[in-house]
Amino acid sequence: MNPTILVTGGTGFIGSHTTVLLQEAGFQVLILDNLSNSDAQVTQAIATITGQSPQFIAGDIRDEALLTRIFAENNIQAVVHFAGLKAVGESVAEPLLYYDNNIHGTNTLLRAMKKAAVKTLLFSSSATVYGEPQALPLTERHPLSSTNPYGHSKLVIEQMLGYVFQSDPQWRICNLRYFNPVGAHPSGLIGESPRGIPNNLMPYIMQVAAGQRPKLQVFGDDYPTPDGTGVRDYIHVMDLAAGHLAALQRLLNPTAQTSVQTPGELLNVNLGTGRGYSVLEMIAAAEKATGRPIPYDICPRRPGDVASCWASTDYATHVLNWRAERGLEQMCADAWRYTQKQQG
Ligand code: NAD
Ligand code: UFG
Repeated sequence: MNPTILVTGGTGFIGSHTTVLLQEAGFQVLILDNLSNSDAQVTQAIATITGQSPQFIAGDIRDEALLTRIFAENNIQAVVHFAGLKAVGESVAEPLLYYDNNIHGTNTLLRAMKKAAVKTLLFSSSATVYGEPQALPLTERHPLSSTNPYGHSKLVIEQMLGYVFQSDPQWRICNLRYFNPVGAHPSGLIGESPRGIPNNLMPYIMQVAAGQRPKLQVFGDDYPTPDGTGVRDYIHVMDLAAGHLAALQRLLNPTAQTSVQTPGELLNVNLGTGRGYSVLEMIAAAEKATGRPIPYDICPRRPGDVASCWASTDYATHVLNWRAERGLEQMCADAWRYTQKQQG
């Protein structure tokens, strides 16, 4: 049996782009996704890009019997774990759904991994685990906290993984703390397709540019930032995917790293660019990339939003030898190409 990487949530936004890079790097990929927020046709788009279809199983990470079977029938080398629910507002309305899907789901996955003695894991964490930034840029040593069930689920999973590692230091785990992923594959064949009204800025802006929504609501212009609007560290999803590849290669090849003396390791790594853009800067960049006006209204602040958030990237560069390469212009151009292809 060929060594295979199990990618949970692999038909989703970040999982699909990462699958492309994994396949292009020569890895065999098996995707497990329950399609609660994605479409099975994404596997065909991946095959068009890479010339190779990933194996795909429609199923849930909470299904322990299914996971046991997957580990028994395949030679799984490592797991890249994207599967999860991610809408902050929905998590406040439905906290138990988030604890079940994200925490119980990860617990089930970890049990199956332990049973199969597969101990190499990349986990999709989030800058949300830093809570309200006390200092910028955010380093991996910033204190952790959460203000909503979504963020709490990420924090609890990171803590779970800490205790798993403590119980068995052979595990090789990397918590990747994403900042704000945007953009799409340059082919325009895969990208971000939120269901319903987008929660996030970039997909909303793209829908306004495409004429699907009349205008954007800018949530607050009275933050202590240069233009008063919120500042975030937007990162191109292809750079984020490359960060996963670098992290996986590190976990699978410990001897290649001069600093690793122990059998296992637990890393926490920011994946961001190290610079922030305001909402108004994002609008201006999107207007330039799309050639369309993005009308907007200034509205009250969105509850729970922080003023500014951007990453320190030093540790990622040091430990993964990785850094983001794509700029804002490319993020907007690629997101726009995908949006236009979706429109047909
Ligand atoms: P996404 O919704 O596009 O992808 C997640 C995928 O997981 C979807 O295809 C969904 O169908 C699947 N899924 C959800 N629950 C599942 C379950 N119980 N069993 C099997 N499959 C399941 O989201 P994304 O933006 O690609 O995010 C991927 C991961 O990264 C998530 O864990 C998310 O919390 C995390 N993350 C995302 C962002 C962001 O802004 N996109 C930021 C930080 C962290
Ligand atoms: N914004 C608007 N209008 C919108 C949407 C967003 O003005 O319609 C503003 C927000 O107020 C914020 C910025 O655009 O200032 C970015 O907002 P997003 O919703 O795109 O991203 P967030 O930084 O709020 O949230 C993202 C992820 C969360 C994660 C968080 C921290 O969506 O899952 O980063 O990592 F928790």
